[in-house]
Amino acid sequence: MSETVLRTEDLTVVYHVPGGVIRAVDGVSLELAAGETLAVVGESGCGKTTLAKAILGLERAAGGKIVVQGNDVTGDLRGLAKRVGIVWQDPYASLDSRWTIGDSISEPLVIHKHPNPRERAVEVMKETGLDPGLMDRYPHQLSGGQRQRVAIARALALNPPLVLCDEPTAALDLSIRAQILNLLKDLQASRSCAYLYISHDLMTVRYIADRVAVMYLGRIVEIGPTGDVFGAPRHPYTQALMASAPTLELVGRLPAVLAGEIPDPRVRVPGCRFSSRCPRRQDRCVEAEPELTIEGDRGYRCYFPVSALTESNAV
Ligand SMILES: Nc1ncnc2c1ncn2[C@@H]1O[C@H](COP(=O)(O)OP(=O)(O)O)[C@@H](O)[C@H]1O
Ligand SMILES: [Mg+2]
Repeated sequence: MSETVLRTEDLTVVYHVPGGVIRAVDGVSLELAAGETLAVVGESGCGKTTLAKAILGLERAAGGKIVVQGNDVTGDLRGLAKRVGIVWQDPYASLDSRWTIGDSISEPLVIHKHPNPRERAVEVMKETGLDPGLMDRYPHQLSGGQRQRVAIARALALNPPLVLCDEPTAALDLSIRAQILNLLKDLQASRSCAYLYISHDLMTVRYIADRVAVMYLGRIVEIGPTGDVFGAPRHPYTQALMASAPTLELVGRLPAVLAGEIPDPRVRVPGCRFSSRCPRRQDRCVEAEPELTIEGDRGYRCYFPVSALTESNAV
């Protein structure tokens, strides 16, 4: 069994907003092993980015625990930056436009007192397919794909055991997406870091992730090996996602089961969060929320799960 790199236990993040409270991440428990990629999927607003921010210490956990390599890092930013790298959707968000590429990549190395920041920056540029001759350029002088490579180089400069990727290819052209995905795969193979890979692009997730967690209104409603979850979803929400477009960006083409609006996140219903849109809803579903049912290496929160044998292609 490989080393557990990340463990969250009942992680909860709340936002106080006009009109109430949003439990953007609500009791999320997950584990991620060295060399493994766990994807987090779900519609916009389900809490994916908030989950990443909480793990990075950028949002305060209202409850629960974050354990990285056996160390409880909940609310403790020291050392976290060395252990966790982040690649955002928009490389402009992780790169300062006034800094050269070399400065951006070297900064975490300098902060963590690396003996040779410049040399390590050159090395990691080569590892990420960047010509070290770009060192003195600025972000706006690079292509979108190159900028994302710089963001990846910066995230990996310190060789963190855990890298969070929040929609890292969503802003890129299709042809560049494949290159960046392959780069992430190659980098993982050579250093066996773990990826928490956030995306609403199910095709990409199928390609890159070993396991997948499906989120709905702050909750993980289904989790398991990617092939199993995609091939035979147990939760009706997962099934509806699979039956929608290959990418959830195409909201206009969602199937009838998902046509309803996502409920107001400020209003907590006593039952299953998906019940307002669920085609399988029965009385029980609106009375109390289902616990996570564990079956082998899979889990789902549903009283009336889709049967793997008879219904997986039924939507
Ligand atoms: N800074 C914030 N203040 C208040 N509410 C927020 C903030 N960030 C996110 N939210 C809310 O939290 C929920 C989850 O958002 P987010 O994590 O960005 O979802 P995702 O990344 O899955 O699209 C949404 O209802 C969103 O409106
Ligand atoms: Mg997001």
